[in-house]
Amino acid sequence: PVVSLVEIGGVKIDKNDVVRDDPTNNVPDTIFSKLGMQLHRRDKHPIGILKNAIYSYFDNNYQNKFDKFDDLCPIVSVKQNFDDVLVPADHVSRSYNDTYYIDSQTILRCHTSAHQAELLRKGHTHFLVTGDVYRRDSIDATHYPVFHQMEGVRVFEPNDWEGSGMDSTSYAAADLKKCLEGLACHLFGAVEMRWVDTYFPFTNPSFELEIYFQEKWLEVLGCGVTEQEILKRSGKVNNVAWAFGLGLERLAMVLFEIPDIRLFWSADERFTSQFSSGQLGVKFKSFSKYPPCYKDMSFWINDSFTENNLCEVVRGIAGDLVEEVQLIDNFTNKKGMTSHCYRIAYRSMERSLTDDEINDFQWRVREQVETKLKVVLR
Ligand code: PHE
Repeated sequence: PVVSLVEIGGVKIDKNDVVRDDPTNNVPDTIFSKLGMQLHRRDKHPIGILKNAIYSYFDNNYQNKFDKFDDLCPIVSVKQNFDDVLVPADHVSRSYNDTYYIDSQTILRCHTSAHQAELLRKGHTHFLVTGDVYRRDSIDATHYPVFHQMEGVRVFEPNDWEGSGMDSTSYAAADLKKCLEGLACHLFGAVEMRWVDTYFPFTNPSFELEIYFQEKWLEVLGCGVTEQEILKRSGKVNNVAWAFGLGLERLAMVLFEIPDIRLFWSADERFTSQFSSGQLGVKFKSFSKYPPCYKDMSFWINDSFTENNLCEVVRGIAGDLVEEVQLIDNFTNKKGMTSHCYRIAYRSMERSLTDDEINDFQWRVREQVETKLKVVLR
């Protein structure tokens, strides 16, 4: 086999160790090709610009107290990604349907929370971790199997909350909300926002922040007061902490008015040149929008069929030329067989696709759903 190496944070990664044809591995070539791209470390890319803007908010408001990490390897253990942040053994996010496994104990991190415990153990009390994260998912304008997150963690000492008149948890929760509302203001100016109660295994209480933008409430981050067990395991028994994880693409799509998540990966200079100032505040101007082409496909599913598996097949063939995969019909006949009809939208952000090209994609998709997913085409 050809040796293909990528280096991340000084670690050399061999493709043959990441993409293997065995049942404990579900990493396709298309995902391997994203390793080491590090969009968040490019100062003239929307993701890098946003990272830098968040850095300056923290530098200015906390006298450079936050340690920054943006080069931690995305290949982590199941323990780091799940166990260390108290994700229950039966949680769906651990499944092969949701997460990319390199082998049964090693995965591509699905959140930057994978580094929380380790950095706490090393003694860091204020830190930001930025990185690429990987999730198997459906296909549309706001979902892509690789995206970027920034994690923030702050640990408090007893004398921080003593004298505040609040218990430690309420104190941390109030400080967290103040910090993130300030960040939202720094990035968006005056915006309408709201807090929504939610659940994460690693925080309690847990919240989501939503921002009202272009007539919709948009979820931009998850956060909360760190579970005491996580602090205890890192030797911190008299402390309280908060943590947040924010999705950089989501925020960047809003800030720069970028209509489709695939654009972040575009090397087309009509995209890249628009961000050459390295500044926040630039609004993306679409180069002419090319027409989508829709193809429908119906088949009888089997017990192991999942939409994520279908999406991976389609992406493996059409790459970033697939814009959306949508279930448009679903019924079960008298014999108990279930049929799904999917509509696939093919569209390039950069040029017009030819009929031949699209027909060829669709034929290969039909062929591979039969051979790989073992469904019966109708
Ligand atoms: N890891 C969570 C996610 O990916 C976000 C989060 C981080 C929530 C830290 C709470 C605390 O959705």
